Amino acid sequence: MTDARDAPDDLAFFHERYGKTRSRAARRVELDAFGHDVGVNGYTTVVQATDLCRQLEIGPGQRLLDLGAGRGWPGLHIAAELGCRLLCTDLPSEALAAAKDRGAEWVLGGDGRALPLRTGSCDAIVHADVFC
Ligand SMILES: C[S@@+](CC[C@H](N)C(=O)[O-])C[C@H]1O[C@@H](n2cnc3c(N)ncnc32)[C@H](O)[C@@H]1O
Repeated sequence: MTDARDAPDDLAFFHERYGKTRSRAARRVELDAFGHDVGVNGYTTVVQATDLCRQLEIGPGQRLLDLGAGRGWPGLHIAAELGCRLLCTDLPSEALAAAKDRGAEWVLGGDGRALPLRTGSCDAIVHADVFC
């Protein structure tokens, strides 16, 4: 069976999606549905992201890795709530540029299955709606 993540057009889909400027209508829908304009590209709600804050045992100054962060959701929310430092990783550079614009301290392009990070370089990992 083929892993859906191996399909070459899968990444092309995300490149295309993140490469487009978000329309006013899309922002408005997100604002109405989520209560925030966070640049979400999945199904994780603000309530769920806030719940993750309670489950992650990290605090100010510690490092959170958001794997497949897209435009920085939910890592940016968690980092703001907990005061932790944030590394966003994903494959499309367009997504990481948006995450950086939104305030991610570090961004790293690469496949989440083989990131060039040393063991112990992050204190917690979160991934929302990512299957890799
Ligand atoms: C449904 S989006 C979710 C994005 C973001 N977490 C959110 O909730 O808005 C899935 C993300 O996973 C990323 N992704 C898929 N396969 C990946 C892989 N092998 N390594 C890193 N990121 C991957 C995609 O580029 C995409 O940004």
